[in-house]
Amino acid sequence: MAIQWFPGHMHLTRKAIQERIKEIDVVIELLDSRLPGSSANPMLAELTSGKPALKVLNKQDLADPERTALWLAHYNAMPGVRALPLDASMSTPAKALVAACHELAPNRGGMAKPMRVLICGIPNVGKSTLINTLKGKRAAKTGDEAGVTKIEQRITIADDFYLYDTPGVLWPRIIVAKSGYNLAASGAIGKNAFDEEEVALELLDYLRQHYAGALEARYKLSGVAEQTDEQLLDAIGRKRGALQSGGRINLNKAAEIVIHDFRSAVMGRITLETPEQFAQWLAEGKQIDAERQMKKDAIEMARLIRLKKVKRPDQPRHSDAREAAAGSAAGPEEPGVEG
Ligand code: G4P
Repeated sequence: MAIQWFPGHMHLTRKAIQERIKEIDVVIELLDSRLPGSSANPMLAELTSGKPALKVLNKQDLADPERTALWLAHYNAMPGVRALPLDASMSTPAKALVAACHELAPNRGGMAKPMRVLICGIPNVGKSTLINTLKGKRAAKTGDEAGVTKIEQRITIADDFYLYDTPGVLWPRIIVAKSGYNLAASGAIGKNAFDEEEVALELLDYLRQHYAGALEARYKLSGVAEQTDEQLLDAIGRKRGALQSGGRINLNKAAEIVIHDFRSAVMGRITLETPEQFAQWLAEGKQIDAERQMKKDAIEMARLIRLKKVKRPDQPRHSDAREAAAGSAAGPEEPGVEG
């Protein structure tokens, strides 16, 4: 079963971005380096209407460095986009961020035209941590201008560089099933919104195909690539003593262990998607989504026909029937909502 999750305050966030966007020069989107595609929000591109974008691949300390390089190259090849790797251990991340923003908006800078940057990111991606580091000893200033949502924060990074934080959460509608699992594995989704066993099995499925060595080393297993996900979870539970009465494996406990070990990177630095893999999942996800939408539309059309709000597409009009009877070649009427 695919994961869907709806955190609150989406409406507030959308409104805040819409109100602010005209005066923004660069949009920073914080992504999780372990799942850059899944932690991105397609709605953001729509809301920020083609503004230059800086993709910050955060938590790079937890991600596979080779794959981070692939993602950086992927984003840096896009027009109007720059990408940077980052992690919380960097004590002075501001320099790189500021330089990248100036590259994206070279006409901004100086007291007359300060750089105005909006920062966005899904929950748990590390936005507060980064903002606190950026604030440093400078006091946070709260935006209190007309039309600006009161709780929006303006942080002064330099005298001519303002960073706007947005309230609430902008959460993507998950159309890629794999993204739901990856987001849950990363810690971005509330604990009660997913089944840990299901998420751990999906995680193991990916790890045994792409990080078999890391799995074998962590749990002292062999031949993991040939095992089923269920066999693996079972073996991990056994190795780690996740047992319940009667000596049976406590699969839920085993799942918790796997997810915890992934999150804390004790299996090593792992990235759950490459740009190519994600592009393929996205194409499949969009296809499934389009088919689902078509089915929904067909059900809605059938309902409207039943309520006689719409004519059945193949139902001839009386005049058509007469014309047909008279040997005319009149075709069926297009369906349309009646006033
Ligand atoms: P948010 O505002 O985007 O929701 O995220 P926040 O800064 O609160 O960070 C979420 C968690 O991620 C925090 O862990 C934080 O320490 C950790 N984190 C942030 N940036 C990095 C990074 O670059 N590398 C690593 N390894 N961790 C980072 P936490 O307080 O322990 O929360 P949780 O993990 O228990 O949810």
